[in-house]
Amino acid sequence: MQIIRKSGRGANLENYELSCATFDWNNCQGEIDYFTNSKINAAFNAVDRHLQKGRANKIALYAIDETGHLEKFTFQEIANQSNKLAHALRSLGVKSGDRVFVFLPRIPELYVSTLAIAKLGAIVGPLFSAFGPDALRDRLIDSEAKVIITNKILKAKLQEIQHGLKDLEHVIVVGDKDEDLKESEITYDKLISQAPNDPICEALPLDHPLYLLYTSGTTGKPKGVLHAHGDIIGHHMTAQWVLDLKEDDIYWCTADPGWVTGTVYGIFAPWSNGISVVCYEGRFNAHEWYSLIDKLQITVWYTAPTALRMLMKAGVEAINDFELNSLRHIASVGEPLNPEVIRWGMEAFDLPIHDNWWQTETGMQLIANLPCLPIKLGSMGKPLPGIYASIVDDKGLELPAHKLGKLVIKPGWPAMLKGIWRNEEKFQEYFKIAGWYTSGDNAWKDEDGYFWFVGRADDVINTSGHRVGPFEVESALLEHPAIAEVGVIGKPDKERGEIIKAFVVLKNNVAASDKLIAELQNHTKNQLAAHAYPKEIEIKTSLPKTRSGKIMRRLLKAWELGLPTGDISALEDE
Ligand code: PRX
Repeated sequence: MQIIRKSGRGANLENYELSCATFDWNNCQGEIDYFTNSKINAAFNAVDRHLQKGRANKIALYAIDETGHLEKFTFQEIANQSNKLAHALRSLGVKSGDRVFVFLPRIPELYVSTLAIAKLGAIVGPLFSAFGPDALRDRLIDSEAKVIITNKILKAKLQEIQHGLKDLEHVIVVGDKDEDLKESEITYDKLISQAPNDPICEALPLDHPLYLLYTSGTTGKPKGVLHAHGDIIGHHMTAQWVLDLKEDDIYWCTADPGWVTGTVYGIFAPWSNGISVVCYEGRFNAHEWYSLIDKLQITVWYTAPTALRMLMKAGVEAINDFELNSLRHIASVGEPLNPEVIRWGMEAFDLPIHDNWWQTETGMQLIANLPCLPIKLGSMGKPLPGIYASIVDDKGLELPAHKLGKLVIKPGWPAMLKGIWRNEEKFQEYFKIAGWYTSGDNAWKDEDGYFWFVGRADDVINTSGHRVGPFEVESALLEHPAIAEVGVIGKPDKERGEIIKAFVVLKNNVAASDKLIAELQNHTKNQLAAHAYPKEIEIKTSLPKTRSGKIMRRLLKAWELGLPTGDISALEDE
């Protein structure tokens, strides 16, 4: 095994053992600003408090649009604009606890909207801009969304499903003109221009809901993971430790705020620390990415293994045109980070890439390769101070080093999910193994306390770091008139971690053709999202089912990978 040893000198967290021995989540209040009676507001901590800390004129956001045009916003400007939008939302009737969704590409209005909603104590619903009508409908109906903030282009997807959204009262549209709007629509610019500027931050209990993010499990539709304002304590500390953010950093998190990484580590965590954040609207392109690092002199970069593998594929030639020596720290999350990629990173950037692990439900990083620790290539690192992680068996008994088991965490860290939206039973399921928070991942730990990821314990697919439930893809495909039956699995892929593969049975008298396959792929892309379509579709005459009629994905996967099929006694035809 290869180990990269580093001095870690000068890192925010310099002594891991000492910090673990002495750190207590109850003793870091000094880092966060509270109102009276221990009330809090995550948006106040992310922006407004910096105005009194000498950062009013500091750049909060470097926003680069699709054409490469750069706009800069100070903390004062972000505070003012979010105050205005919060006042405007209030005048539309938005109250504490209402669900307000943000369906925007990576543009400054997305950041302002997120803060404005949080200032009112309303619940932010981040939506990935690539979502199709089905994905939108599931989320907006389940949460009974009251308002959605979108733009001229994305609103077309909303219009397809809007008639079924009984609770949706207002659609706020960025970049549209008044005369192009329907009755329920209002322009963002007009709302803002008429609103007052004065501070408007609700003082809220620590467990008051902050954001509701839908994520996939093995069965059923995506579930709404609910997080609270008190999470900001965890956001703030982990950004210091894991991302090593310091006052003069220019920080780029490549994740879209439609995902938890983009919301937490693209907005709240860096801004709580008063750090300048980069937001890039464009898509992945090796040349553009390197050019951005060079042009903005980015110092800290938080990205994902698929993106790094794609950069690796583009070769070192793609780097040669640029000066990337502004970079001082690189971190990666979302999927296993191959040792090969870390080795390439050492060559390409002369820096190690620091893997870390967390989930939508955990709300913050929990296990990481910290700057002060040696990196064991292929390991996710060690639990952060204040976090107790373990590997347990089915009964919750802790397993010794090198034994494969379930990765679990002792509940009690600040950003742990506060609930599953209107589904207490699902929420309780996370804790059903002896009270541990159960991650759904399988892993093992070594004698030095490093954790090693092995895979998911369930059928959830991780494609390019996106978590996709097979059930969602199956449901979308079943809506197509040609399909009689479908089973969906994740198939290992060198670049994307996994790709989605669908096995389908066609209805009688439907003929198989390449055209039909392409049509099915497009259908899923349009209904769900571009990342959630089956890259491979195989047509079968029947699918393996249990006697109760459930399609056995496990068997499909075993067949696909040429693995032993295990116990097939439940199989229908056996
Ligand atoms: O399976 C693990 C994988 O991504 C899942 C969490 O996905 P999501 O809720 O979308 O959260 C994204 C925020 C990180 C985990 O259950 N995962 C995450 N980080 C790693 C990982 N797998 C391997 N190595 C990681 N570092």
